[in-house]
Amino acid sequence: MNTKTTVMAAIGGMLILGTFAFSPAPPPSERENNLKFLPKDISHDDLMNVMHSFEAATGMNCGDCHTHSTTDPNKMDWAADTKHKQTTIDMMKMVQDLNKQYFGVDGDFKTNYLQSQYKVSCSTCHNGHDQPNSMVTIPIPEKR
Ligand code: HEC
Ligand code: HEC
Repeated sequence: MNTKTTVMAAIGGMLILGTFAFSPAPPPSERENNLKFLPKDISHDDLMNVMHSFEAATGMNCGDCHTHSTTDPNKMDWAADTKHKQTTIDMMKMVQDLNKQYFGVDGDFKTNYLQSQYKVSCSTCHNGHDQPNSMVTIPIPEKR
């Protein structure tokens, strides 16, 4: 095999692996969805923008929050409930509440989030990490 063939084979392999791990998510309008906080009629593009932004903010991937289908392990079950999905829903509510209460940003999460209206957002705390509380902080001085 020459270099070009090897490279093509490698790319082909990655593509197959990629499809294997994450079957593409169908638009929410075309299936029963299990959305509990985002609007049920959210467009596919808006939903994916939120998801990609969560990945960037927390350094996590689709598969960290979502799980494989129990009937077909080659497929993802995007609607299935997971621990990290529940935590994320709590985080979205917290972001909405604290911006409303302390920064006067009213309105729904989806619109404010996608238009970068929030003063405190996922990245404020997470900054690309899943566990913000393990990031280096200035030590609290001992009581004098
Ligand atoms: C940090 C966690 C997190 C990451 C990372 C993440 N998601 Fe999600 N995803 C969620 C949560 C939470 C919901 C449900 C939101 C709700 O209930 O309002 C969701 C919902 C969805 C849904 C709709 C499911 C339904 O019920 O119809 C799809 C599709 C989806 N995600 C795809 C993706 C894809 C594709 C990626 C990677 C590009 C991804 N997600 C990354 C947390 C995440
Ligand atoms: C005010 C700071 C703050 C904001 C804002 C925030 N988080 Fe968090 N998040 C935390 C802390 C702290 C933890 C760790 C909690 C623990 O250890 O129990 C955490 C944990 C998580 C986890 C679980 C990670 C793990 O590995 O267990 C996910 C997922 C998550 N946050 C997603 C989000 C998303 C998405 C947003 C924006 C919608 C967000 N967070 C906004 C502080 C924040």
